Amino acid sequence: PLTARRGDDGVVSIGGIGVRELAEEFGTPAYVLDEQDFRERCRAWREAFAGADVFYAGKAFLCRAVVGWLREEGLNLDVCSGGELAVALAAGMPGERIAMHGNNKSVAEIERAVGAGVGRIVVDSFEEIERVAVAARLAGVRQKVLVRVTVGVEAHTHEFIATAHEDQKFGLALAGGDAAEGVRRVLAHRDALELVGLHSHIGSQIFDMAGFEVSAHRVVGLLTEVRDEHGVELPEIDLGGGLGIAYTSDDDPRGPREIAKALGEIVARECEFAGLRVPRLAVEPGRAIAGPSAFTLYEVGTVKPLAGLRTYVSVDGGMSDNIRTALYDADYTVGLVGRASGAAPMPARVVGKHCESGDIVVRDAYLPGDVEAGDLLAVPATGAYCRSMASNYNHVPRPPVIAVADGQARVIVRRETEEDLLRLDAG
Ligand code: LLP
Repeated sequence: PLTARRGDDGVVSIGGIGVRELAEEFGTPAYVLDEQDFRERCRAWREAFAGADVFYAGKAFLCRAVVGWLREEGLNLDVCSGGELAVALAAGMPGERIAMHGNNKSVAEIERAVGAGVGRIVVDSFEEIERVAVAARLAGVRQKVLVRVTVGVEAHTHEFIATAHEDQKFGLALAGGDAAEGVRRVLAHRDALELVGLHSHIGSQIFDMAGFEVSAHRVVGLLTEVRDEHGVELPEIDLGGGLGIAYTSDDDPRGPREIAKALGEIVARECEFAGLRVPRLAVEPGRAIAGPSAFTLYEVGTVKPLAGLRTYVSVDGGMSDNIRTALYDADYTVGLVGRASGAAPMPARVVGKHCESGDIVVRDAYLPGDVEAGDLLAVPATGAYCRSMASNYNHVPRPPVIAVADGQARVIVRRETEEDLLRLDAG
């Protein structure tokens, strides 16, 4: 669990360091990441899925320090672009511990992945099967691949982050036979491609295990078809990521152990029913590992009480460091963290400094009525999909990521500067 604590003076500390000290040393806004918490989550997943493979989904948040932690904690890594692959390789992640995703990988990305000896390429289209086969032949290797199957599950999450219903871009649909055809095409390239299994990812920020049950049921169904048609029992299934975390007290997430047990049981039961050997399981948690381990530290700039409505509290970041509220209508909480306050709570909306009114960080919050300019606010659970989806909107430099552990703080991603922004401007 997060090492954040509130001291007697009301100041919150994390990893043994007070937020005032962090703000003074590193400035605000900043993402503050509790390394111990991140590592503990890695361990919890690793232990819960002993005998299976855990691929951390790098899209949630990736930098070289994170790759180092994954390496040390025995996790593998899922990357979905050449850029993520480059970070993984730069930080010394062995190729075989990397899985390469993406619905439209470029030929260059495929060649790089094959060249780096990535352990799995998750093929997502018919074109890509041909491209990976060509790249593997060129490199003189036999590339391990998984076929990404769209199982037709409606995951109960925001439309933009649900990925296994049929009317979307990912994978090969089970219905209508595209997935089976994908398997046929991969098997036709036996010299260049080794089909190790099937992959399904149904969406993100999911709490209900029912979607995973249906997904596992349908994936095992295809394994059975593959055995019947081709006489091969594929040794692996990867059920993707998607496990939800608590952004607010309304969310009630499952822990890795509970999930491992549920998935293991479903797959074992389905395989027993079909008379199949139980394949090795893989999962790809991103948010569930990175999300809870960080908060964003902001400084308040202005406080505008709107009579009869609420108070607008502006902070020094906004939609450029957390687009999730605007994009997915995501809920967050916020707390005053740099001092104590006995003031009565007031309805507040925490907004950023960008030039649009949709620039909201926390839509509905209660903050102490005496919040004022210079106060520090923390928005928890911003470790996943905040820094990784940050932008330079309004030419606002992206905040740093500060890792804290054992009373030490270090920059693992530095703050962007105006110079960084101008460096890209070709004049
Ligand atoms: N595996 C695959 C193939 C995925 O596409 C994803 C997420 C994951 C694993 C990791 O899912 P997680 O365990 O983190 O839910 N930007 C959105 C989330 C998009 C997720 C995309 N794929 C957000 O901020 O909520």
